[in-house]
Amino acid sequence: MTTPLIDKLTIRDLPDSTWDGKRVFVRADLNVPLQDGIITDDSRIQASIPTIQYLSSRGAKVILASHLGRPNGTIDDSLRLTPVAQRLSELLGHPVQSTSDVVGPAVTEAVNNLNPGNVILLENVRFESDETNNGTELTKSFAALADIFVQDAFGTAHRAHSSTQGIGTLIPAYAGLLVEKELHYLGAALESPKRPFLAIIGGSKISSKFAVLRQLIGKVDTLFVGGAMSFTLLKAQGNEVGTSMVEDSFLNEAKLFLDTIAQSSTTLILPEDQVLVKKFAADAETRLAPSTDIQSDEMGLDAGPQAVKALCQVIEAAGTVIWNGPLGVFEMDAFAKGTIAVAKALEASNAISIVGGGDSVAAVNKAGVADGMSHISTGGGASLSYLEGQELPGVAVLKDR
Ligand code: 3PG
Repeated sequence: MTTPLIDKLTIRDLPDSTWDGKRVFVRADLNVPLQDGIITDDSRIQASIPTIQYLSSRGAKVILASHLGRPNGTIDDSLRLTPVAQRLSELLGHPVQSTSDVVGPAVTEAVNNLNPGNVILLENVRFESDETNNGTELTKSFAALADIFVQDAFGTAHRAHSSTQGIGTLIPAYAGLLVEKELHYLGAALESPKRPFLAIIGGSKISSKFAVLRQLIGKVDTLFVGGAMSFTLLKAQGNEVGTSMVEDSFLNEAKLFLDTIAQSSTTLILPEDQVLVKKFAADAETRLAPSTDIQSDEMGLDAGPQAVKALCQVIEAAGTVIWNGPLGVFEMDAFAKGTIAVAKALEASNAISIVGGGDSVAAVNKAGVADGMSHISTGGGASLSYLEGQELPGVAVLKDR
């Protein structure tokens, strides 16, 4: 028997004999960054391999589906999954066939010709406009290809699309190994965290993360808010923030948030000092100053050394840390120190460390400490939705345990 990690049934819950000769539609998130047709980061492909191997080694005929980019229902040759199929073949050590259509007679024939253990990759599902509309016809066509649906696209599980949700309403639907792992880490962190529990939330726009911030009040012991989004909070506290990025239309919400968190069990930490510049440029002259001493012509582009030191001490003492969003403009080396220091402190700590969001993951990779994290989520938007307490449609549709 398997140890249940989540409250949905997973592929591990079914006897091995279930899979032999079955057609299994596996939705993966193979939406990888491409530059001139070359995959620049194959993490998502690598993360999808365990489920494919699990099913294929048990005799399943694996029908793999994914989106790539946002072609909005039109065929865009630069967003074909051909390079993904090639990388999959390399990682699996055997050829992965790919189709040039998403559905249709040629796809049906190719699926009918599969032998147990074979893997076929359908073309980019978003070439069909019905995919994002969760259209009935496309959903039925997907379901007709398979006996069982396996959801392994955690990164797209917050979308109610044909291949992520609709198909699961028509044929039996189970979680794949990646979805199980993601939900296990995120769920355990939120429901029974090893304390002290620290959340580090950064990035540019507070508007995109307010729901998460509110949700974390009372759940985490310490909430550190960094990056440009912290200036809206600093301004709401009455500080001069100069020309730093502020979302003025969210100042009232920011004040309400500050009042609510002050009355809760959660300690809010904002960066106590800043790396300040007068112009937004990689080679701009910098000044270090407390966050209470920002001049009207200055903007903050990174957390200052005192702020970083204080945060690293909280990380060192933490039992669980979730991190989403950088502390500064980490794409420019001059303003990456805070973000890189967090990545390194997480690696050095004994805390359960869960990193989500493209920028934080990139920072962890840039710092060369990816192996030191307990879990790196493959879902940016999906992990945020989960932290917001939202139900993920691509998970909700799966069979309950
Ligand atoms: C992502 O990259 O976050 C996922 O693949 C989802 O993509 P989407 O935001 O285009 O739905």
